[in-house]
Amino acid sequence: MTRVIAVANQKGGVGKTTSAVNLAAALGEAGHRVLVIDLDPQGNASTALGVPHHENVLGVYEVMVDGKSIGDGLHPCPDLPGVQCLPATIDLAGAEIELVAMVAREHKLAKAVASHLAGLPDDARPEIVLIDCPPSLGLLTLNALVAATEIVIPIQCEYYALEGLGQLLKTVELVRVHLNPDLVVSSILLTMTDARTRLSGQVAEEVRAHFGTAVMTASIPRSVRLSEAPSHGQTVLTYDPDAKGADAYRRAAAELWSRAPSVPEAEAAVKAEAVGAGTVDLGDKAGS
Ligand SMILES: Nc1ncnc2c1ncn2[C@@H]1O[C@H](COP(=O)(O)OP(=O)(O)OP(=O)(O)O)[C@@H](O)[C@H]1O
Ligand SMILES: [Mg+2]
Repeated sequence: MTRVIAVANQKGGVGKTTSAVNLAAALGEAGHRVLVIDLDPQGNASTALGVPHHENVLGVYEVMVDGKSIGDGLHPCPDLPGVQCLPATIDLAGAEIELVAMVAREHKLAKAVASHLAGLPDDARPEIVLIDCPPSLGLLTLNALVAATEIVIPIQCEYYALEGLGQLLKTVELVRVHLNPDLVVSSILLTMTDARTRLSGQVAEEVRAHFGTAVMTASIPRSVRLSEAPSHGQTVLTYDPDAKGADAYRRAAAELWSRAPSVPEAEAAVKAEAVGAGTVDLGDKAGS
């Protein structure tokens, strides 16, 4: 069965896109079939994967709003065998509003993904679908959570890292209850860790103490190569295969692949957080 993974966090700039594209590249490198759905009107994932996403390109907007099939919008990613991308064009910015009036508006992406996967022979069907979500909890992200079997939450290792996380987990819980009972929070991925600052280590420790095994063992260090790669239309795995960021994403991808989608201890921690006040106290961690 294909694992459909939403990479989501409504907080901006935490490493969602960087994680989605580099995990995809690393999974592809390891021989897996991967589909990346760029669900952010910014189109950053499409850029990083070297896939066209200018106006008039058939992308996720046409799939969700016009009912086009995913297969018609797929592009192979240059230099990444096994990885395909459904791009996002700027049109998608309007989808959030256009979808409001539509019937079964939360299920548009789920239906498209299900029919795409069902129409493929076993040896061509992606093993993993990664959905790069925009920084909001609007209808686009909601569509991703309904389409997904799992959610991966990147958390940037800095002050305020966990702000808004309670709200995200509550949304996940609501989606689970009302729209998609299969959804599990499978992994939290620590990003932009910095061994030189105490704060980064403290945030990582706090997140691990709070969410236990939900947090992936692999974490992603801050690395200039990771931030340079997209401007070359590449992931770090092709841009600088020996960079520490490339290696970190290879380890994270291997861990994601081998992880059971549902980690009971993680689920419990996440549920407790969703039910509680939704605040994780990092109040005394400033100033290092
Ligand atoms: N490990 C890292 N080291 C250095 N820079 C990073 C790292 N991860 C991400 N970045 C940079 O940080 C910025 C934000 O990352 P990214 O775009 O992946 O976040 P995002 O959560 O997708 O943002 P948005 O919410 O806008 O979609 C980008 O400029 C990216 O290149
Ligand atoms: Mg992004």
